[in-house]
Amino acid sequence: MIPILEARGLSKRYGPIIAAHDLNFSIARGEVVALVGDNGAGKSTLVKMLSGVIKPDEGQIVHAGQEVSFSSPQDARSRGIETIYQDLSLAPNRDVVANLYLGREMVMQGWLKPFGFLDRNAMVQASGALLRELGAKINSITGVPVGHLSGGQQQAIAIARAAAWAKDVLFMDEPTASLGVEQSQAVLHLARRVAEKGVAVVLITHILPHVVEVADRVVVLKQGSIIADQPAAETDTEQLIRLIVGFDLNRVRPNGPAATA
Ligand SMILES: Nc1ncnc2c1ncn2[C@@H]1O[C@H](COP(=O)(O)OP(=O)(O)OP(=O)(O)O)[C@@H](O)[C@H]1O
Ligand SMILES: [Mg+2]
Repeated sequence: MIPILEARGLSKRYGPIIAAHDLNFSIARGEVVALVGDNGAGKSTLVKMLSGVIKPDEGQIVHAGQEVSFSSPQDARSRGIETIYQDLSLAPNRDVVANLYLGREMVMQGWLKPFGFLDRNAMVQASGALLRELGAKINSITGVPVGHLSGGQQQAIAIARAAAWAKDVLFMDEPTASLGVEQSQAVLHLARRVAEKGVAVVLITHILPHVVEVADRVVVLKQGSIIADQPAAETDTEQLIRLIVGFDLNRVRPNGPAATA
């Protein structure tokens, strides 16, 4: 595997809290890697370090074989590393096409290609083609504020936008957190399609069946450290729960006290 992005010994502290400890992690084009772990395990911290939101205290980030130091999320984005955050960061009063091109009309190279501010027709065409390609079901991509669309459709737009500009890496921090079953499936499907385009996709989720279903590899974080990194095909939800919570749920049911190790 030739990694497109590597974390080498990344650490991050917040006062006495070690949010990330000596993390070594790499991802390759075309793979979907699931990042799992309990609340506060360090998942978002790792993604934030790799996407320019926060600076690691220690360690190196290597992108396409070159050591890099991201000055901002925009800096990471300009290198083809996109992130979908839980709040989606859409402009609710603007339509789908405007959202897909938000802040990029002139500057970026990517799946949607730059057309300039005035070539709205070309942007509409490219947006429609992109959403079709990603299998998103949205009837009106012009004239309807995205705030009026369903949660799943809005999520699809945020993902489509990040996917469109993600040349190398797409980070998805709990992209299905507030979605129903069918909408979550559509989002997972999109993640897979993006990976098939040659992008490395990193998916953070607490929904373990999603991990087993969509990921090629699963990385487990616990108290700031990576405690497992293995092919998803070689694991199952029971084993993941054991790794995440640190004890065997079967051993504490139905009437025993919780074991601690
Ligand atoms: N800005 C911050 N200031 C202080 N502590 C922080 C900050 N950001 C994160 N932490 C702490 O670092 C640890 C890791 O947090 P992180 O957000 O990476 O967890 P997570 O695995 O993403 O959890 P969740 O599943 O709840 O989103 C936690 O103990 C958290 O409280
Ligand atoms: Mg988090």
